[in-house]
Amino acid sequence: MPKKMHNKSMLKTVMKQKKAAMYKLPENPLEFYISEEAAAYGRKPPFTIHYDNPEQSVKLLKGDCIEILNQARENSVDMIFADPPYFLSNGGITCHAGKMVSVNKGKWDKSKGVEKNHKFTLEWLKACQRVLKPNGTIWVSGTTHIIYSIGFAMQELGYKILNDIIWYKRNAPPNLSCRYFTHSTEIVLWAAKNQKSKHYFDYQLMRKMNQGKQMRNVWEISAPLSEEKRFGKHPTQKPTELLSRIILASTKEGDLVLDPFCGSSTTGVVAILRNRKYVGIDLEEEYLKLSVKRIEEAIAKKETKLFVDEKVSGL
Ligand SMILES: C[S@@+](CC[C@H](N)C(=O)[O-])C[C@H]1O[C@@H](n2cnc3c(N)ncnc32)[C@H](O)[C@@H]1O
Repeated sequence: MPKKMHNKSMLKTVMKQKKAAMYKLPENPLEFYISEEAAAYGRKPPFTIHYDNPEQSVKLLKGDCIEILNQARENSVDMIFADPPYFLSNGGITCHAGKMVSVNKGKWDKSKGVEKNHKFTLEWLKACQRVLKPNGTIWVSGTTHIIYSIGFAMQELGYKILNDIIWYKRNAPPNLSCRYFTHSTEIVLWAAKNQKSKHYFDYQLMRKMNQGKQMRNVWEISAPLSEEKRFGKHPTQKPTELLSRIILASTKEGDLVLDPFCGSSTTGVVAILRNRKYVGIDLEEEYLKLSVKRIEEAIAKKETKLFVDEKVSGL
């Protein structure tokens, strides 16, 4: 290399190192920031902040969760609830309120073929694993369309699968074709970051919530109540009861819960009511707007002490 060019590249490296050293990591793990290296290169964060409430420790980010998590702080999250696209919006039909309706949920839910879908699953699960604390855990919900790919990807990445929860929906819609058994379950996989993790589980509380008996892995919980959709509908909204059980079982007060595919932020609503910190990520503005309405209502409920959960406090 000519001497002049050599000096120039040395100078560039020194400048980058100086910049990187100036970039202090924020203390608050809620600060999803571009990594030190990215900052040194002057790259912009791959998201916009849609909602930020530092007092309540709640943040909503708009962007692609893989890009965001790949630049977020490593080992910073206590628990992740991931409700990814199920890749089932491919022109099928289902039954809603007694009527035949299209199963299509949106562009984000279209299948790209088994291999591409699995590649996507591997990418986001890897990004999640990096940000989980050593003893952190992840929950992932899905139907037959993706859950086997998720389970396989978890094994490929070295996650430790702790449980497969069968969520049984007692109010599942009937099967219109009459050529299959009626679908009435979803699987929620619970896994620890790796084989060495010492995961947290509130065994006693789960037992208490189950009339003093060990809680099993079949959970009978209805699809979201209409009251939970009063601010608008998300096509794959989860019930708060499901998230309540998940959050209470696997986190402590003050823990940070991450929801990389937040949709209407059901996880955020429960996290707020249960005094956990929350970061939600979604690509769609429309769902983030719905999330804000639900989140602000949850904050108001908590502040006015209007929140009473019979399932836990009425034991
Ligand atoms: C199954 S829904 C989540 C529903 C949510 N649990 C609720 O209760 O409302 C999946 C969400 O992921 C979002 N999404 C899809 N791909 C994404 C990506 N790469 N990054 C961030 N969000 C994504 C979609 O816009 C959709 O709202």
